[in-house]
Amino acid sequence: MKHLKYLNKFLWKYKTTLILGLVFVFITNIFAIYPAEFVRNALDGLLDKLNDKDTKDISLLLIKYGCLIVLFAILKGVFLYLTRQTIIVMSRKIEYDLKNEVYEKYQKLSIEFYKKNRTGDLMNRITEDITKVRMYLGPAIMYAINLSFLFSLIIYKMLLVSTVLTTYVLFPLPILALSVYFVSNRINKKSEKVQAQLSTITAISQESFSGIRIIKSFTNEENSLYVFYQSCKEYTQRQIELIKIEAMFIPLIITLIGISTVLTIYIGGLEVFKGNITTGNIAEFIIYVNMLAWPVASVGWVTSLVQRAAASQERINEFLQKKENIYNTNNTDTSIIGKIEFNDVSLIYSDTNIEALTKINLTINTGKQIGIFGKTGSGKTSIVNLICRLYDANDGEIKIDNKNIRSHNLNILRSSIGYVPQDGYLFSGTIKDNIGFAKDDINEAEIENAARKAEMLDEINSFPNKFNTIIGERGIQLSGGQRQRLAIARVFYKDPQLYIFDDCLSAVDANKEQKILNNLKQETKNKTTIIISHRISTIEESDNIIVLDKGKIIEEGSHKQLLKNQSFYSQIHVNQIHNQ
Ligand SMILES: Nc1ncnc2c1ncn2[C@@H]1O[C@H](COP(=O)(O)OP(=O)(O)O)[C@@H](O)[C@H]1O
Ligand SMILES: [Mg+2]
Repeated sequence: MKHLKYLNKFLWKYKTTLILGLVFVFITNIFAIYPAEFVRNALDGLLDKLNDKDTKDISLLLIKYGCLIVLFAILKGVFLYLTRQTIIVMSRKIEYDLKNEVYEKYQKLSIEFYKKNRTGDLMNRITEDITKVRMYLGPAIMYAINLSFLFSLIIYKMLLVSTVLTTYVLFPLPILALSVYFVSNRINKKSEKVQAQLSTITAISQESFSGIRIIKSFTNEENSLYVFYQSCKEYTQRQIELIKIEAMFIPLIITLIGISTVLTIYIGGLEVFKGNITTGNIAEFIIYVNMLAWPVASVGWVTSLVQRAAASQERINEFLQKKENIYNTNNTDTSIIGKIEFNDVSLIYSDTNIEALTKINLTINTGKQIGIFGKTGSGKTSIVNLICRLYDANDGEIKIDNKNIRSHNLNILRSSIGYVPQDGYLFSGTIKDNIGFAKDDINEAEIENAARKAEMLDEINSFPNKFNTIIGERGIQLSGGQRQRLAIARVFYKDPQLYIFDDCLSAVDANKEQKILNNLKQETKNKTTIIISHRISTIEESDNIIVLDKGKIIEEGSHKQLLKNQSFYSQIHVNQIHNQ
């Protein structure tokens, strides 16, 4: 239960709605229980008249009570509607608030967090877990309040009539509550298994749809079908188990209510003979018992709802309480000029314990272009991760414009950087939206300009819908080189103070690559540029080149100087020239 305490702040936020809901529940129950008394009075009145052989006003009597019952039923309906309009609506509003809170937290958490948690898990917390919490805030709270009011009112009414009868009639109810609790617990467990299998089926189909080209070219259809068939079979099996238990639910409740009703008639009958109660009281009691049955049954159901909500909220809290290890501490708006310094910087990734960078020292002055060269896994991207503050260094100091990177305004730092990552991720949407990603309002002329600088303009114009062409899963398929050039255009449009190209020209042909690099040079006369590549031709024009190996700088200098060194760089240069 302690995990659900977190939600109290939301209940407090919507306290007026909640209190109003409470009042409505109370009024609903008042209107719900009086008709039982009307039935008793009508019956007793009827019997009196029959005994006295006075049949004159019978229909008047019955019409009077009939109308009262209808009137109360209507009023009960009205207030029931209002109850749902308050409490259930409140639960939806809290669901909305909580979803936003979790999503906002997601946006703040570091890349490290995303490496440690699976996407499916992140999605579940924001969908399934929050739904379970809503079931606590809405139905569970509503039924709990309803039950406590109804229970006290009915017991009070029953005791007014007969203590003996009340005791007997109430006897089966705790058994009812307990058995419903056990059954719904089992139903929940089984349906979770069904859900899990459904996710497996979804994952299997998703994979085979994305990999359909491989499946077809390896003629693997039958195998793929078999895997699907197996998991569907398992799904059906689990569904059948669930249905078996669900089928017990209603008969169980009906049996226990039946027992109560039989007891009412039997014990009640005896009491009538003793003259303690009237015949009408028996009818009244039967109505009470039936009214109590569902709320009492719901105790079991509500308990399991609350338990599930608590487990879900625990998972949500775990994320909400995660410390953001990289956050902004400075809200001034000093802009970034672009000088970068690394002093003995080391980086160890905490999840893998890999020392990606060891005692790196380098200085990049504004207006200069630096090339970073090294084999895959040598630590090139790690340097960029540090400059963008996607990670913080474990040791040493990084300075931007002579000030520690951690004391810069993080938002300004990141918005001053134009980073083209290795995998150039594009969002589903139009080309225009993808290039214009950095800014809220889109300037068509500038978008076109950015596409031109990325050597992509002609191709975009050859698409039927030009800049409005949809890319992504349901849109046009772009080649690797086209994707990279779009990612580059996105950064040209951003027009940042610091350009970082992380191996993002690998699929672009040599001719276009040189043009893009020339455009970049034009663009960055007063700006800092970092170009990462494992191809020497991409970086040879840089003012300075650092050569990385196993996280250490092993050589540094201009292309000419490095060739003179006759070591690692020049050897690779010879190889690459040969392979061309
Ligand atoms: N986000 C990360 N979490 C854990 N280990 C990482 C991460 N990124 C890179 N590494 C590891 O750090 C080393 C350097 O990687 P990286 O900087 O990506 O090299 P490069 O860009 O030169 O290919 C590699 O051994 C890689 O496996
Ligand atoms: Mg890399």
